[in-house]
Formats: sequence, structure tokens, C-alpha cells
Amino acid sequence: MIKGKHIVLGICGGIAAYKTASLVRLFVKAGAEVQVIMTPAAKEFITPVTMSALTGKPVVSEFFTANTGEWHSHVDLGLWADVMVIAPATASSIAKMANGVADNMLITSYLSSKAPVFIAPAMDLDMMAHPSTTRNIEMLRSYGNRIIDPAVGELASHLVGKGRMAEPDEIFNTINDYFSRREDLAGKKMLITAGPTYEKIDPVRFIGNYSTGKMGYAIADEAATRGADVTIVSGQVNIKPTSDNVKVIKVESAREMLAECQKLFPKSDIGIMCAAVADYTPTEYVNHKIKREKEEIPVIKLTKNPDIAASLGAQKKPGQLLMGFALETDNEDFNAIDKLKRKNLDYIVLNSLRDSGAGFGTDTNKISIFDVNGNKRCFPLKSKREVATDIIDTIISR
Ligand code: PMT
Repeated sequence: MIKGKHIVLGICGGIAAYKTASLVRLFVKAGAEVQVIMTPAAKEFITPVTMSALTGKPVVSEFFTANTGEWHSHVDLGLWADVMVIAPATASSIAKMANGVADNMLITSYLSSKAPVFIAPAMDLDMMAHPSTTRNIEMLRSYGNRIIDPAVGELASHLVGKGRMAEPDEIFNTINDYFSRREDLAGKKMLITAGPTYEKIDPVRFIGNYSTGKMGYAIADEAATRGADVTIVSGQVNIKPTSDNVKVIKVESAREMLAECQKLFPKSDIGIMCAAVADYTPTEYVNHKIKREKEEIPVIKLTKNPDIAASLGAQKKPGQLLMGFALETDNEDFNAIDKLKRKNLDYIVLNSLRDSGAGFGTDTNKISIFDVNGNKRCFPLKSKREVATDIIDTIISR
């Protein structure tokens, strides 16, 4: 619930700034504490006096107050916030946030905030449609920020198109939903596999794949934010969970991943198999570097790896939920449903390498989720964090 939460509201210089007075009223009436930060341009559209009267707190806009010398710490504000809302977010502030141009109090606070950030863009339709704005918004999404899409309607220019800031009640409901969902996995133990497996050939070579762990770690962060006790069994990746409540067990091979999952799954309520597990491993490991000078070209014989998802599916108890992923390049639906059945999963998340922006390494993904009754839900291309929200919402809906 929103009651008692700390909300930092960043207001940029656009005509929609006048609507933030209503937004603040909604937050305050619901029991939140609101701290407003205004960019210098925002003060041309709505006065700091109005905002401080509504919030009961002085508005922060400059780094220090000239007459008293008082210093306003952007770091403190970033740490105080349970959530940061930037509304209206103008093209210029969006560009600064995307590129780290920290030339005012709002952008420095944004850059030092550890809280989730919700951004409500507002601008004229052509600015909104410009490739630079589109790219900057996508960059912000890829950092895990959530975008509250602008509406289509009449704009300050009297032109009609996409660019109207979402209405205050829509922004309020988004934030309220976010806080209501926060604890919906409280008390649940979750096991997530992520990243690639490496199957050793010799001390310097392995068979691997392109998985970076981004998708699995995003699910772990989302689940932890919503109260779950999360353990990731992870292949070798270069990322860390952003949430402190996620435990990571690093492994290399499919067999090591299986061994850790076998220990954890019996104590878990939910398992999500997001790792890209090698299906085959070299039959034997050569314990010295295979030399190039050899006349003969070496032949690497392979043997099947255990199927981790299938082995957990076989031991699944009533009350446990198991979700798998299917990464496909063709016959996507057929293959995903086949894996769902063969591995005794409750859900399978399909991502296809035929969709641009989906799959390995990207900050975005495009998924469909199948359940055991053959129902399919398709989602558009989103940031991996937003995809993680859809995945967790699907699990919660059961
Ligand atoms: O890590 P990123 O760079 O963000 O990329 C994300 C991703 C593309 C790796 C992810 O979204 C994804 O699709 N993960 C599953 C990749 C995969 O191996 O899919 P699959 O169709 O081969 O496997 C089907 C399911 O069985 C998966 O849940 C997989 O984890 C599991 N499996 C597969 C083989 C095996 N030996 N053991 C398994 O548990």
C-alpha cells in the first residue's frame, strides 16, 4: 500500500507540470510523504510555493540555498525514496537521464537513486516520435526504469497525437499497484536458474552459449522486490542481482547446476528454469591443453547432459510450481508446448530468436507464456525487467 511510503516526485519544464498538483494531492491523501524536486524550467510552469503547500515540504531545486548556504544532498534524497516518479518527463530531461548528464538537482538525484523509477513522458507529438526520443526512452527502459506511456489526445500545440502525459489518477494507480504487488510473494521460496553452462573440453576450452543471465537475474530481482526468498543457480555471467535479498550460487557445468537444483528444489515453492543449459557435454575431459601441432584434427565426442527442468518436473510435489523457458528458432509454439509437456512444467515462456530484440544478451525480450491447458498469452517487446514483471504476475495469477 502507498500509505507511509516516501515518494520523490521530479517535475520537469513542460505544460503538463500543472497536473502534478493533482497528483501530489492523490499521493498525500493516500498517506504518502512526497518530496518534490523541480528542474529550473519546471518553475516556469508551476510554482514551488504551490507544490510545497501541497506536500508540506520545501521544494528542492538547487544544490544549495544561496542565502543560508544550506546544501541539498541528492544522495540523501535518492536513498530516502521508496519510489521516484518523474512527471512530466520532457524530451530534454529524458535525454539527460538516458545519458547521465547530471546538470541539475533532479538528474543527479535520479542518477543516485536506488529506488525504482517511474517516468511519465509528456511532449509534442513530433518530439515524442523523434528517433532520439524513442532511443532515449528505450535506453531508460533497459536500465530497468518503468515508462508510464503518454496518451493520444490534444496537445498544448493544439495538434492531436501521442504525447499527453498520463492523467494523475493513472500515474497514481500505477504507483499504488506497484506497492500493492510488492509483498505478493512474501514467504515464498524461489529457485531460478540463469546464464549459460560451460562444458569443459580441456583446461582452456569449453562448449558454451551466448546467455548473459540478464533475463534470469531480472526475474530474481523482480521476485525479491515482491517479497520472495530467491536463490539463483547461475552459470558464469558478469552481472549481479540489484536486490540484496537474492542469493547466488555460481556453477559451471550442467551437472553442477543439476546438483544445486536437486538440493534446493524440494525446499522451494516455485522454480523458474531460465538458464541456457548445454544439451551435450564432451564424453571425456582432456586434462592438458590439446595442442594445435598435432597432425590429426581432434574429434570431440559428446554425450547427453541431464535435463534439469525435466528432472525437477519428475519430482514436483502438489503445491510446487515449475516454469521453464523455450528458446526457439522455428516451429516455436509446437516446440514450446512439447517441452512444457515432456518436462512436466506448469508454464513455459517462449522466446524466439526470430524476433529482433528477443533472446540472448539484449536488454529486452519478447515472450509468450503457455500454460498446461494450452492457453497462450503474447506480450510485446519490453525491457527484461518488465518481462520479469509479466512472468511473476502470471505466476501470482495462479
Ligand atoms: O541470459 P540472457 O542473455 O538474458 O538470455 C535469456 C535466454 C535467451 C537464455 C532465456 O530467455 C531463455 O530462453 N532461456 C532458456 C534457454 C534454453 O536453453 O532453452 P531450451 O529450449 O533449450 O530449454 C528448455 C528448458 O529446459 C529451459 O527451461 C532450460 O533451462 C531447460 N533445460 C534445457 C536443457 C537441459 N539439459 N536442462 C534444462 O533444464
